[in-house]
Amino acid sequence: MGRVLLPVLASAVLLAGPAQAADAPFNGPPGASSCTGCHATTKIADSVIPRIAGRKAADIVTFMREYKSGAWPSSVMGRIAKGFDDQQTDAIAAWFAAQPE
Ligand code: HEC
Repeated sequence: MGRVLLPVLASAVLLAGPAQAADAPFNGPPGASSCTGCHATTKIADSVIPRIAGRKAADIVTFMREYKSGAWPSSVMGRIAKGFDDQQTDAIAAWFAAQPE
């Protein structure tokens, strides 16, 4: 019993933490929630990761294509971009573009 309850409690505590993005139910397309772990949809002043919320969808798509092909150097995005096909990338980009800047 305790073994089952403890992880549940731990994740409840994590979700209730100060990261306010976790409060809102996620309404994005498949895959987009894997981006928001790094690219915040709310303002985080000390983040070193570029904000993509509110950017033009076409720009996000271009970045993703170039990361995927290796045309644009990256530390992590090349690997991540390879995990999404064009259709998924378009949907994710459109969703980020619709988020408040
Ligand atoms: C592990 C953290 C991480 C995840 C997850 C992640 N990114 Fe990134 N992203 C970065 C970092 C770091 C950069 C800066 C380039 C680099 O070093 O790879 C970046 C750069 C970008 C850029 C370029 C922004 C600019 O102005 O230079 C775009 C667009 C982008 N990511 C989109 C996405 C999308 C869409 C997803 C989800 C499919 C995603 N990222 C998931 C960390 C992440």
